[in-house]
Amino acid sequence: MVIKSHEKGFGVVTKSLHWVMAALVITVFSIGWYMDLLPLGLAKLEWMSRHKSLGVTVLSLAVLRIVWRLCEPTPKALGNHKLERLAAKLGHLGLYGVMIAMPLSGWIMSSAANFPVSVFGLFTLPNLVAPNKELFETLRTVHWGLSWAIVGLVGTHIAAALKHHFIDRDATLRRMLPHGAATKGSANLSEDQRNV
Ligand code: HEM
Ligand code: HEM
Repeated sequence: MVIKSHEKGFGVVTKSLHWVMAALVITVFSIGWYMDLLPLGLAKLEWMSRHKSLGVTVLSLAVLRIVWRLCEPTPKALGNHKLERLAAKLGHLGLYGVMIAMPLSGWIMSSAANFPVSVFGLFTLPNLVAPNKELFETLRTVHWGLSWAIVGLVGTHIAAALKHHFIDRDATLRRMLPHGAATKGSANLSEDQRNV
């Protein structure tokens, strides 16, 4: 088991962070829309509290992941065209961006509404700004807008991973899987793609 990523594959830390965070982001996103549909009451407040705690967990893991990412080499992007590889890079940058901006906008929004954020009832985060109704409304719109950015980015990201796997038949998806290595179905791949 390789801890750090290298030129041809992802290490166990990056793979674990990737899948744990993918599950978390999708869960927090789903709770966000679910709680939005609930009438005002105890159930709504409870789901909102879970949403915030898990959202803060995403923020902490995102910071950890970015620091780790800067400390290790990254596998070369696979793909036949320069433009496709550039699009993948921009897409990943966008995903890192929303993993920070989404929870941060939520935290500042809650601060502006003067609802301090309790994390799983264990501790309370400090308010980042003074109460401000106008700022609250602006951040509410930003948070909502970012949720659609997540739909676009994650949707494209998943479609791209499936395209690499089923159409290009390269190792992009396999090398992100827990025991992923380019073994099966690699007959048509170049030496570089097979050895990932
Ligand atoms: C990965 C992190 C997060 C995701 C994907 C996410 C997603 C969402 C979504 C989809 C909604 C429903 C749409 C909307 O009304 O905007 C929502 C609402 C909300 N989120 Fe988040 N959120 C995240 C983190 C946070 C955090 C960390 C907080 C606060 C500490 C927070 C506070 C809120 C609040 C207060 C609402 C209700 C806004 C309203 O009243 O309209 N969110 N979020
Ligand atoms: C079923 C869902 C998902 C699949 C199948 C998937 C698949 C992949 C694959 C195959 C890669 C490696 C790409 C490469 O080698 O160039 C990757 C990288 C990445 N994924 Fe996902 N992913 C999923 C969900 C998500 C979600 C929800 C997020 C975050 C919101 C995310 C964030 C990222 C990021 C930031 C990278 C870039 C890693 C790096 O090189 O720094 N993924 N994903």
